[in-house]
Amino acid sequence: MKVCIVYDSRHGTTEKVAKAVKEAIERYASVEAYKVHEITTLEDCELVIVGAPIYYERPLRSVLEFLEEHSDELKKKKVAIFVVCFAVAFGSLVGWHIQNHYIKPLKERIHGEIVGTLVLRGGIGDIGEGEIEKAKRWAFRLLDF
Ligand SMILES: Cc1cc2nc3c(=O)[nH]c(=O)nc-3n(C[C@H](O)[C@H](O)[C@H](O)COP(=O)(O)O)c2cc1C
Repeated sequence: MKVCIVYDSRHGTTEKVAKAVKEAIERYASVEAYKVHEITTLEDCELVIVGAPIYYERPLRSVLEFLEEHSDELKKKKVAIFVVCFAVAFGSLVGWHIQNHYIKPLKERIHGEIVGTLVLRGGIGDIGEGEIEKAKRWAFRLLDF
């Protein structure tokens, strides 16, 4: 299976996750990680893993724009989403908010089959080992689809 991880990152946190996910699955699948401006077509990708940090209560604009620009291609793909944010630190109190403001804008722009979503707690360029491990396990399970 060819897996494409497509993400953007201002301070490097989402990038750390993208690279860790790549490392976790590259023994089992052909996988590349790209920042949104580094990839022009998703043609060869069977599974697209989209990664977005949250800024000012929404996913980073460049990721939303990428999904809009590649909307047609994404219709034919399996897609998984991960977001990196502070808010998840507040636990179930903010669950609804995260789903509606952080995940929904991404989902709304994807008309392919969404096979997984993951919310990770990230700092500014800094992410806990536990979150990296969580992302790796999540990505590994995506390969079953
Ligand atoms: C200016 C700024 C605004 C942010 N806004 C939010 C926000 O609205 N909600 C949230 O949960 N996290 C927010 N965050 C936290 C980021 O989503 C988090 O630090 C993330 O790990 C950054 O990812 P990056 O390093 O890949 O850019 C904000 C961070 C900064 C620096």
